[in-house]
Amino acid sequence: MLEISNLVCRYGKVTALKGISLKVPAKQLVVLVGANGAGKSTTLRAISGLVPAASGKITFDGEDITGMSAGRILSLGIAHCPEGRRVFSQMTVLENLEMGCYLRSDSKGIASDLDHIFSLFPRLAERRRQVAGTLSGGEQQMLAIGRAMMSRPKLIMFDEPSLGLAPNIVAQTFDIIQGIRESGTTVLMVEQNAYAALDMCNYAYLLEAGTMALEGPGEKLINDPHVREAYLGAGLAHA
Ligand SMILES: Nc1ncnc2c1ncn2[C@@H]1O[C@H](COP(=O)(O)OP(=O)(O)O)[C@@H](O)[C@H]1O
Ligand SMILES: [Mg+2]
Repeated sequence: MLEISNLVCRYGKVTALKGISLKVPAKQLVVLVGANGAGKSTTLRAISGLVPAASGKITFDGEDITGMSAGRILSLGIAHCPEGRRVFSQMTVLENLEMGCYLRSDSKGIASDLDHIFSLFPRLAERRRQVAGTLSGGEQQMLAIGRAMMSRPKLIMFDEPSLGLAPNIVAQTFDIIQGIRESGTTVLMVEQNAYAALDMCNYAYLLEAGTMALEGPGEKLINDPHVREAYLGAGLAHA
């Protein structure tokens, strides 16, 4: 469904991605792990059209999306749930969710998707008129996920969804992401919590300083001694 080949991205003189390739097949959950600064967020930003490609190609559903605007990419069905759950803190929960579907005009579909999200996240339903900045970290993460779902994406990308959340909320967040995949949406997820992420994915990639160092099914990466030692030590403590 999504295919990246030889992608290079630069921030001024810093080359964040040095020619990476990756595939995300339809209806699968693919995970991207790696140390801080490896280029994980840059990869997601490049797919969303937020960072330009210096060279290389990104295709989605067979269409070349390299160089397309972020709005156009969103309208093709790619949603991005960014790092640090950037909700609009001055807006209410409901307004945040409406921002997620600003490109849609099917009011019936929007209403039923809102119902669906409120049934998935009852705490958001109770707080629909509350401004997002007053929600707890876990609630803001639910809102960021709900907002991304409101565009009815074919592919949804999560950047460090568990970051800064209490352990019970982390488990709940992963359950929700698993549920999104089970309902037929393709998922590409970046996670520092490598053990949990590798355990739940269909396929995984390890990014090392802007280069794809390793790929394979989650078990392969979990059991790779190089990976265990160099990158996932903390995350694998209880593996
Ligand atoms: N806006 C930016 N300007 C300059 N350099 C950046 C910017 N964003 C990221 N970088 C650099 O690009 C590299 C990859 O960053 P990033 O994709 O955020 O890594 P990760 O998400 O894996 O931690 C790092 O060296 C980082 O310092
Ligand atoms: Mg990042």
